[in-house]
Amino acid sequence: MARAGVILAAGMGTRMKSARPKVMHEVAGLPLLGHVIQAMRGAGVERIVVVTHKDGEAVRTFAQKMGAESVIQDPQLGTGHAAACAGPALRDFPGTVIIAYGDMPLVTTATFEASFAAQAETGMAMIAFRPAEPGMYGRMILDRARLLDRIVEFKDANSEERAVTLCNAGILAAATKEFFHWAGKLENNNAQKEYYLTDIPTLAKADGVRCAVIEVDDESEMMGVNSRAELAAAEAAMQKRLRANALKNFVGLVAPETVHFSHDTVLEPDCLVEPYVVFAPGVTVKSGAHIRSFSHLEGATVAAGAIVGPYARLRPGAVIEENVHIGNFVEVKNARVEKGAKANHLTYLGDARVGPGANIGCGTITCNYDGFGKYMTDIGAGAFIGSDTALVAPVKVGDGAITGAGSVITKDVAAGALALTRAEQQERPGWADKFRARKKAEKEAKK
Ligand code: UD1
Ligand code: CA
Repeated sequence: MARAGVILAAGMGTRMKSARPKVMHEVAGLPLLGHVIQAMRGAGVERIVVVTHKDGEAVRTFAQKMGAESVIQDPQLGTGHAAACAGPALRDFPGTVIIAYGDMPLVTTATFEASFAAQAETGMAMIAFRPAEPGMYGRMILDRARLLDRIVEFKDANSEERAVTLCNAGILAAATKEFFHWAGKLENNNAQKEYYLTDIPTLAKADGVRCAVIEVDDESEMMGVNSRAELAAAEAAMQKRLRANALKNFVGLVAPETVHFSHDTVLEPDCLVEPYVVFAPGVTVKSGAHIRSFSHLEGATVAAGAIVGPYARLRPGAVIEENVHIGNFVEVKNARVEKGAKANHLTYLGDARVGPGANIGCGTITCNYDGFGKYMTDIGAGAFIGSDTALVAPVKVGDGAITGAGSVITKDVAAGALALTRAEQQERPGWADKFRARKKAEKEAKK
């Protein structure tokens, strides 16, 4: 059966007190909404419609980037009304539709799969969980067959209903056509004067369709983000999950709780990551690579046998090949450092190629930017760049060439040549001693 999805994201997220729409806040480097879209996609959902606020341009742009469609809900009349707004886009979709909220970043593909499987049995399915603190969640009242009798929103519930600990997570699967038929029949005669998504099962029941309820054990998976504190809690839960996955995948993590992952970090089995490393988005570390403490990596690839850090910074476009050493306070951006090359200390390599086996001395800088454009530096195989060399790009240093320490290289250097731009050294015998004596006398005279 074909699968479509609707993600509700039209709320303003006022409790975040942010210029950014709530679902655009990030967990593990990806907006909340992105996590929900990815989990749905994983469950084979081919069309996803995101319901947005009229001012949610950023949400629509992001949804499009993730291959999802979007519609506008204006004004916000409740979760059932929001879902109904996807009707014109999906009403004729032949198959099953799943509804979820855009602020549940920890929801998994497995939960969506379970919803579809249960829906196929009974015609409708919802996800439940038992939070440690049921708080304001909608309560799920089951019948003797353990099918859903009804959901009572906290604000509409009596004390007996509030005592129920089974809560609604906000995920519902149903046949598409029927779903939008019921969504169009919702009423708002409740405490909040809203059209509740949670009334859909009651309408379905009247038409003879029963709703199965699947209980998910991991409470954190159903966590909804409404505040900064909940955003931080979601981040912590996601980091825990990513670290556990890495360990399960045979990644060496000396102090897992100190390593920060992005949603897309790829660490191959048997790479080693020391404490306090940050992986921003877009990083791949191959088997046999070693990332040392306090390094920050983003948009970079590190190959087998390479050692990065401590205190290294790899920025987007950094490609670190086999057996390369990138040491402390070395920054690499849009640069390929080829097999066995070394840049061990205090260096900036931007918009560059460093040939195999080249040695980059301490304090080397590729001067890649003139305030207007960016230019390439090309360093040949086996070249030796003396300490404190400034390479003014565009410039090429040939294979095996040497640059003298402290040189400012503005012209291409031929293979095998030595290039240096130093002023000649002068020496004045005894000058230092005489200088000190004079200064000392001046100081004494002032007393
Ligand atoms: C909802 C459920 C509740 C459930 C809880 C789980 C309803 C009526 N209640 O309550 O049973 O336990 O989630 O977290 O569904 N939204 C719109 N348009 C609207 C209203 C909401 O797009 O007009 C979106 C919000 O952006 C949000 C989601 O729907 O992403 C949920 O809305 P929210 O107001 O947070 O629902 P809750 O009161 O938490
Ligand atoms: Ca909520």
